[in-house]
Amino acid sequence: MKEGITMNFETKVIHGGIQEDPATGAVVPPIYQTSTYHQQELGGNAEYEYTRGENPTRFAVESVMAALENGKYGFAFSSGMAAIHAVMSVLHAGDHLVMGNDVYGGTFRLVNSVLADLGVTYTAVDTADSAAIEAAMQDNTKMVYLETPSNPLLHVTDIEQAASVAHAHDAIAVVDNTFASPYNQTPLDLGADVVLASGTKYLGGHSDTVSGFVVTSDETLADQIKMIQLSVGAVLSPQESFLVQRSLKTLALRVERHNENALALATWLNDHEKIQKVYYPGLPGTPDYEIAKRQMRGFGGMMSIELQEGLDTKQFVENLNVFQLAESLGGVESLIEVPAVMTHASIPREIRLENGIKDELVRVSVGVENLADLKDDLAQGLDAL
Ligand SMILES: Cc1ncc(COP(=O)(O)O)c(C=O)c1O
Repeated sequence: MKEGITMNFETKVIHGGIQEDPATGAVVPPIYQTSTYHQQELGGNAEYEYTRGENPTRFAVESVMAALENGKYGFAFSSGMAAIHAVMSVLHAGDHLVMGNDVYGGTFRLVNSVLADLGVTYTAVDTADSAAIEAAMQDNTKMVYLETPSNPLLHVTDIEQAASVAHAHDAIAVVDNTFASPYNQTPLDLGADVVLASGTKYLGGHSDTVSGFVVTSDETLADQIKMIQLSVGAVLSPQESFLVQRSLKTLALRVERHNENALALATWLNDHEKIQKVYYPGLPGTPDYEIAKRQMRGFGGMMSIELQEGLDTKQFVENLNVFQLAESLGGVESLIEVPAVMTHASIPREIRLENGIKDELVRVSVGVENLADLKDDLAQGLDAL
């Protein structure tokens, strides 16, 4: 970002971070498709040596993400899970982690299997309840890991409150910002130490790339994450870095439309006779709404719904024309899925049910299409039941 200039988000996506090629002035940073660099002298500590460690295209998108999340250091990974793994790798055998009880299934699997095998223990709680976080803290708790809004129940955690509980116990607070995107929420401003995201979703935004990002302002944590990125090697390729940076330029425009469409559909579905429940942080009357109103700029494009008892979920999700039955979220196209069978199938059923994720829950990623077309599609799908 240009020194000393304050920019609003819509300007930062286009002018924040490194948005031109320092070598040529090209207004679009080129794809430096190289694995290695010619070193001018032996042992000379060149700025660029090998792409796993240094690549200008990756550095560019990392700097933009750091700017958008209001942090100092950004890191790009080959997937959201690689980003989460890198952050969790700051934990060691004997450490304990407190995390949300309705986090993304892949995150649960990483903690419950890979980290558990390495000797890291965890307690899963409803992080929307700061007393529950407090009660779960142990002498060896080193991290409080939040997803807000959460996946798939869209619960909202007060980031400021959760971070202060973590800090009172000398633990770090980490927020998965995938659902909100930095347009809707900047967790570092609310006291989080690290923010991460699956870039596969809103950041990439077109369902054509897989990526992950980590941003922090803490130099020690940044050094640790850089070391893990270099050592494990799950870096974002130059091609994918270019594509995500291209997408970020329209992040504000896209998320604004996702927000508008989702709020309108959630409000309409909430009063629909064939819908039992809508989970969306933009619906007034819940604690989630009150916190979301305070800490989010918009309520996001994600919601979950439950049909009235006895209605056939399978028939509903298979018979839509605009909404596609598919995993993932955050792309321009509207998607629909059933977490118990798809995105959250890696969580054992009894744990899913314990955490309120019913077999029939339907998760909706509202795209940026024409609102009337989206509404008509859902209406015909519901009418047919
Ligand atoms: C909230 C959240 N975090 C992390 C991930 C993992 O990201 P990726 O699929 O890019 O590895 C996902 C994937 O769906 C997600 O929904």
